[in-house]
Amino acid sequence: LSEDGRALLLSRIKDVPDYPKPGVMFKDITPLLADPKAFAALTETLVELAGQYGATKIVGLEARGFILAAPVAVQAGIGFVPVRKAGKLPGATLAQSYELEYGTAEIEVHAEDLAAGDRVMVIDDVLATGGTAEASLSLIRRAGAEVAGVAVLMELSFLPGRAKLAASLAGAPLDAL
Ligand code: PRP
Repeated sequence: LSEDGRALLLSRIKDVPDYPKPGVMFKDITPLLADPKAFAALTETLVELAGQYGATKIVGLEARGFILAAPVAVQAGIGFVPVRKAGKLPGATLAQSYELEYGTAEIEVHAEDLAAGDRVMVIDDVLATGGTAEASLSLIRRAGAEVAGVAVLMELSFLPGRAKLAASLAGAPLDAL
């Protein structure tokens, strides 16, 4: 991503204070999605990374990860696989729960969508605590597939997400644009 590209993306991410609750600064990507130049610049960068990773499948994490990942899969000419919040997928799934600040959450993937031989790139908008991404890596491995890399638009570097993910990445790259 060029300096200009990075500046364009940053200018299209809106800080929304106290959303969804007091004390939280929400990163709103809807201005970026509404700007075709910015969305295209982001997509192109992610397609390049998919090539560098040697990815053969793209996993998007619900819900904003879907929006970013789907055009990458189409442009890279490889399949898109949704990792969904529990209870949304109709077929046989693998499920993985993970810790939230209060309580736990669960994500699922269709078991038949990933298999041995797949090299999977995970795409999401934000890496915060790393819980969601870590759970997705465990789903990918449990399906018998390989983790090719993780790419996020934003990393909240004041949180220990990168450190939390390090072990489950097992040497695979983590790129924050
Ligand atoms: C947000 C974000 C990531 C995740 C990051 O999703 O889009 O998927 O949280 O947090 P973590 O690193 O602490 O796990 P959210 O659960 O808000 O879902 P949404 O995209 O469906 O709104």
